[in-house]
Amino acid sequence: MANPNVEVKYTKLFINNEFVNAVSGKTFPTINPATGKVIAQVAEGDKADIDLAVAAAKVAFKRGSVYRNLDVSARGRLLWKLADLFERDMNTLANLESLDNGKTFDKAVADVYGCILTLRYFAGWCDKTCGKTVPVDGGNFAYTRKEPVGIVGQIIPWNYPLLMLVWKWAPVLATGCVSVLKPAEQTPLSALHAASLIVEAGIPPGVLNVVNGYGPTAGAAITSHPDIRKVAFTGSTDVGRIIAKAAADSNLKKVSLELGGKSPLVVMDDVDVKEAAAIAHAACFENHGQCCCAGTRTFVHEKIFDDFVAEATRLAKERTVGSPFDSNVQQGPQIDDEMFNKVLGYIECGKKEGAKLQAGGKRHGNIGYFIEPTVFSDVTDDMSIAKDEIFGPVQSILKFKTLDEVIERANNTTYGLAAGILTHNLENALVFSNAVEAGSVWVNCFLAVTCQTPFGGYRQSGLGRECGEEGLELYQETKTVSIKLPINH
Ligand code: NAI
Ligand code: MG
Repeated sequence: MANPNVEVKYTKLFINNEFVNAVSGKTFPTINPATGKVIAQVAEGDKADIDLAVAAAKVAFKRGSVYRNLDVSARGRLLWKLADLFERDMNTLANLESLDNGKTFDKAVADVYGCILTLRYFAGWCDKTCGKTVPVDGGNFAYTRKEPVGIVGQIIPWNYPLLMLVWKWAPVLATGCVSVLKPAEQTPLSALHAASLIVEAGIPPGVLNVVNGYGPTAGAAITSHPDIRKVAFTGSTDVGRIIAKAAADSNLKKVSLELGGKSPLVVMDDVDVKEAAAIAHAACFENHGQCCCAGTRTFVHEKIFDDFVAEATRLAKERTVGSPFDSNVQQGPQIDDEMFNKVLGYIECGKKEGAKLQAGGKRHGNIGYFIEPTVFSDVTDDMSIAKDEIFGPVQSILKFKTLDEVIERANNTTYGLAAGILTHNLENALVFSNAVEAGSVWVNCFLAVTCQTPFGGYRQSGLGRECGEEGLELYQETKTVSIKLPINH
């Protein structure tokens, strides 16, 4: 049940299986984006707290520790138990998520389901990550072992706070690593409730630590820490670049990055316009447009362009905006005043650059960070609303004539996270899927993200993959062991 008055129980840092204040004693406010008001003060970690969390993680990962000595299947049961606890506390987790992030309650519930599926999926990997025996020249007996990289630093964003937390935690436990994780400063509350479940799940102290705080302080302490062997980050491309540099400049820690996108969705002329417009609408406005793989460049074939724009406009105008706890509402507020102003700035830019404003275009209401679902048609490739990640409820519709032309234009971006095509023509679907430079391609659907399939970006959309079997790779080292045998064995 949706409950905007959900109790906020946990506001401290979670280190070594205990909730503790920051060493500095500092706190920072977390804001309800629907009202702009403070929900709670949360402990503000920085370098000193990251050091403590890394020290706890180091003990947890030490050879001979309880955690290192767990049976592989027992690690699987920890993940499974955590999933059960997420299921039990689904209401609390979803309400905290809606309150802190502004996403609608039903979407928050869907995110918690996604967390449960992910935890259970990775539970299955614990006893299935195998090395190989390798035939080698010289007759040695050679085999490979998959070993955990060790202490992992993890930095997550505010758009899917719980889901991103679980996308980070699950491979940690599945591979036998340990973690120090920093939630986004905008959305610490659901992560802290999730942390409270760690002890109950039976996960040993120091294995999963959560340190709230800001990027340039707590985040930077993670990326430059000499004992952290890998950093996993989801967020903006700009910060991704800073993180890769800090990782290189410190101890050359491994880096996985899941960054931004400006994903194209191509609508061919053989579709049902109403159905296609509905898919494109959902692709763009998901999570108030705050989705890294949102389909924000809607390329529509010239033959159906006008009808499509009319339908897309109708859908945007009908989209209900308001309290995330109201079950009739489809869209809540943007995350904070910074993103609110950034998105409104892009809308002004679109108007100035000559795109046709078909729907929305301004703030919704006068409290909180709500923005009207906005549609621009007649957008051209050179406009900033066609090039930059806006991260808000803004759809840019562009016209095209041929598949070859649209493939070129779809690929004319620095990003490469996702792409989609709507068509009944199999050949067109396959030609597009093969040619488009993106980590995920969706045909006749969009945002078909699952925990079983790898997710990540080409080019400046990222480095490495999360989820699926590939999601384990950057949490593991491969060791080759060669054993000399007598000749003629
Ligand atoms: P951001 O990239 O600044 O924040 C993401 C995380 O990185 C947060 O936990 C933040 O505290 C941390 N961080 C920031 N600076 C850091 C540093 N120097 N060292 C270590 N960690 C640091 O994203 P922000 O400012 O919230 O949003 C800016 C833009 O990023 C958005 O407009 C959107 O385009 C993009 N974005 C993409 C996301 C995705 O899912 N790929 C998620 C959130 C934002
Ligand atoms: Mg930032």
